[in-house]
Amino acid sequence: MGASTFLRACLLCLVLSCHAYKYKTYFTRQRVDHFSFANQDTFLQRFLINDDHWDSNGGPIFFYAGNEGDITLFAENTGFMWDIAAEFRALLVFGEHRYYGVSEPYGNKSLTTPKYSGYLTSEQALADYVDLVSYLRFVIEELKPVLYMSLEGLMEGCWPPGSASSTLTSAIAASAPVRQFTDFTPCDKFGQKVTEDFAKASEACVEVIRKSWAAIDAVTAKEDGMAWLSKTWNLCKPLKDKGEVEAMKGYLMDTWTNLAMVDYPYPANFLAPLPAYPIEVVCSHLTEPGREGKALLEELFEGVTVYFNYTGQSKCLDYTEEADARLDDRGWSFQSCTEMVMPFCYDGVKDFFEPAPWDFQEVVANCRKTWGVTPRAYMAPLMYGGWTFNAASNIVFSNGLLDPWSTGGVLWNVSDSVVAVIIPEGAHHLDLRSANPADPPSVVEARRVEKAHITKWIEQFKQMQGAG
Ligand SMILES: *[C@@H]1O[C@H](CO)[C@@H](O)[C@H](O)[C@H]1NC(C)=O
Ligand SMILES: *[C@@H]1O[C@H](CO)[C@@H](O)[C@H](O)[C@H]1NC(C)=O
Ligand SMILES: *[C@@H]1O[C@H](CO)[C@@H](O)[C@H](O)[C@H]1NC(C)=O
Repeated sequence: MGASTFLRACLLCLVLSCHAYKYKTYFTRQRVDHFSFANQDTFLQRFLINDDHWDSNGGPIFFYAGNEGDITLFAENTGFMWDIAAEFRALLVFGEHRYYGVSEPYGNKSLTTPKYSGYLTSEQALADYVDLVSYLRFVIEELKPVLYMSLEGLMEGCWPPGSASSTLTSAIAASAPVRQFTDFTPCDKFGQKVTEDFAKASEACVEVIRKSWAAIDAVTAKEDGMAWLSKTWNLCKPLKDKGEVEAMKGYLMDTWTNLAMVDYPYPANFLAPLPAYPIEVVCSHLTEPGREGKALLEELFEGVTVYFNYTGQSKCLDYTEEADARLDDRGWSFQSCTEMVMPFCYDGVKDFFEPAPWDFQEVVANCRKTWGVTPRAYMAPLMYGGWTFNAASNIVFSNGLLDPWSTGGVLWNVSDSVVAVIIPEGAHHLDLRSANPADPPSVVEARRVEKAHITKWIEQFKQMQGAG
C-alpha cells in the first residue's frame, strides 16, 4: 500500500492557517490491534473529506496519511492537494494518525502505560489507513449515498470485504526522513544542516548561538544569575536549579531546529506565527559574537523573541512548553522510544549546538523511565527496508535542502518509478504547501514534476483496468 511510504513523512508540516479549506468530518471504527485476536477493543479514527471537485465516476482519491498531530492542522497546511483537486477531479481524504488529535484509542489514558500506548506503532497506523481506504472504496462503489450519512451509523459493524483487488497506489513522500534511522545517516548531519541554514544568514549569528550554551551555564552557575536570566528573558517560571536550566537549553535547541524547518519565503503560521525567511530575521538581531556572558544572552533573547513573540502578544517565555506545542505531538516521543529510533548528535564545532554524543544506553534508560518501554534500534529499517528502495514502485521522494530532515531523505533516483525531487531553496514540506507568489522557481518545478507523475499513475491505472 502506497501510504506506507508516507511512513514518518513529516515531522512537522507547516504553516499558513488558511481557513478557506472546507471538509466534512467522519469517524471510522478501527481495531486497536489489527494483528492479533488478543485484544478486541475498537476506537474511532477521524478522517476528513472534500468532494467539491470529485468525479465520482472514476476520479482518483488523494489520501493524506496523517502524521504526528491533529489532522485538521495538516489538512489546512497541505494546500497542494487542494490546489490540484479540481484539475484531477479528485476526492480528498485526510486520515488522522492513531494517538494524535482526537483519534485516541483509550481517551486520555492512551499514553499513560504500555498497556494502552503499546498500540501506537506505524504498522498499526498503516493498517488503519489500509482499512480506511478499502472501506472508502467499498462505500464509494456500493453505497455511494451513504458516504454522506453521519459516521457512527455508517461505520459500526460494517467492514468491507477484502477489496485489495485492482488497485494501484502511489505516493508523494514529502520530506520523509526514511534514512534517519540507526546506521543510515551519520548522527551529526541533522545539526550541521540546521547550522548551515543559519550560516547562510551570517557567520556572526552562528557564533552567537554557538557561544550561548556556555554563557548560559556560566551566568546561571550562581543563584542571582538564574534570577537575572529569568527576569531578562521574561520566563513564565523562574529558573531554580540545574535541571531547569537544561530544560531551557532544550527549548532553545528545539527553537533553532524548528526555524530551520519552517524557513519559508513568506509569512506563515504553523509551529508559530513567523515572518518570511524567519532565520534572516532572527539573525538580524544576532550580530555581535564578541559579547560575553550577560551581554551575549541579552542579544540572544532578541533572536529568540522572533520565534516565541513575533505577534507581540506573548506574556512570558514558557520554556517548559514544547517549542512546537501546537502540534501536540506527545506521541512522537513514545514512537521515537520504540521503533522510530533516530540518532542525533552534536559536536559544537561543525554545528552550533551544545556538544552531545548519541548515547543509546542513555536513550534506553530515559525511554524506560518516561514510557516504560525499551527502544529497538533497528526496528524501522527491518520493517520497511531503507537500504535501497529498489523493490518499491511509484513513489516521488521530495526534499527541500533547507530542511534538516533532508539529511535522512532519499535524494537520488532509485528507478524509473521511484524518483527524487530536490528543492534547493525549500524548507520542510514546502512543495505540499499552497502555491504562493513568493515561491522559489525550484518548488514550482517540483510541483510540476509531481503532477506529471500523478498524471502518469492515473494513466497506468486506467490501462490496468482496461487490460483487466
Ligand atoms: C481523564 O479524564 C477524566 C474525566 O475528565 C479524569 O477524571 C481523569 O483524571 C483523566 N485521567 C488522566 C490520566 O488524565
Ligand atoms: C512581546 O512583545 C511585546 C511587544 O514588543 C512586548 O511588550 C512583550 O513584553 C513581549 N513579551 C515578552 C515575554 O517578552
Ligand atoms: C531524476 O531523474 C530526472 C529525470 O531524468 C532528472 O531530471 C532529475 O534531475 C533526477 N534527479 C536526481 C536527484 O538525480
